[in-house]
Amino acid sequence: MTQRDHWQTVWTTKAPEAVSWHQDDPAASLALIRAAGLRRDAAIIDVGGGASVLVDRLVEAGFIHVAVLDISGAALQHTAERLGPLGDEVAWIESDVLSWRPVPGLFDLWHDRAVFHFLTDPAQQAAYVAVMRRALGPEAQVILGTFAPDGPERCSGLPVCRHDSASLSAMLGPDFRLEEELDEDHHTPGGMVQKFHWCRFRLD
Ligand SMILES: C[S@@+](CC[C@H](N)C(=O)[O-])C[C@H]1O[C@@H](n2cnc3c(N)ncnc32)[C@H](O)[C@@H]1O
Repeated sequence: MTQRDHWQTVWTTKAPEAVSWHQDDPAASLALIRAAGLRRDAAIIDVGGGASVLVDRLVEAGFIHVAVLDISGAALQHTAERLGPLGDEVAWIESDVLSWRPVPGLFDLWHDRAVFHFLTDPAQQAAYVAVMRRALGPEAQVILGTFAPDGPERCSGLPVCRHDSASLSAMLGPDFRLEEELDEDHHTPGGMVQKFHWCRFRLD
């Protein structure tokens, strides 16, 4: 089964509110985005956004250039349907992030919650960073939320690579300065607690 097939199956067989990563309030993401201090016309992309309500909160907050990328068209459809006319100006991008060819330098903020951690192969991790670098403009910021070193070893039935700021800094390279990090206990709809680690970087 390809990655795309896996995620299409998830998003066509499960209710968005029932998946383990669901959250009613993307509080950590919003706190880090607030700290990034962006103008309302900043270009923001939520990579692997799935059915997250983060895009709703961003549009409601007045951000006018918001994109959501996901490998699953079904995930994007859930989110677009939920948003209705509020999502008319959102750019919906159906693509595997690893093969995506972004317009160079377009984005001021790259946000990823629980997507990068599925990349367990160093070649894929490097490919992800290369796509991200291409997409980012000068002094852009990157927010990555992954399972922490004491977090789960699998997510959605797939193995993950758990991270802290040292492992993420090593992968991103010296051009990215770590500005902030935080730990989060995510409470799944099934009542489990998952340890996340978040980092916000700035491109020097
Ligand atoms: C664990 S979910 C997290 C969803 C969302 N970020 C959130 O926090 O609710 C992972 C998401 O990444 C998407 N995804 C997985 N691999 C991807 C890839 N290689 N490229 C783009 N999206 C991917 C999946 O379809 C899914 O929506």
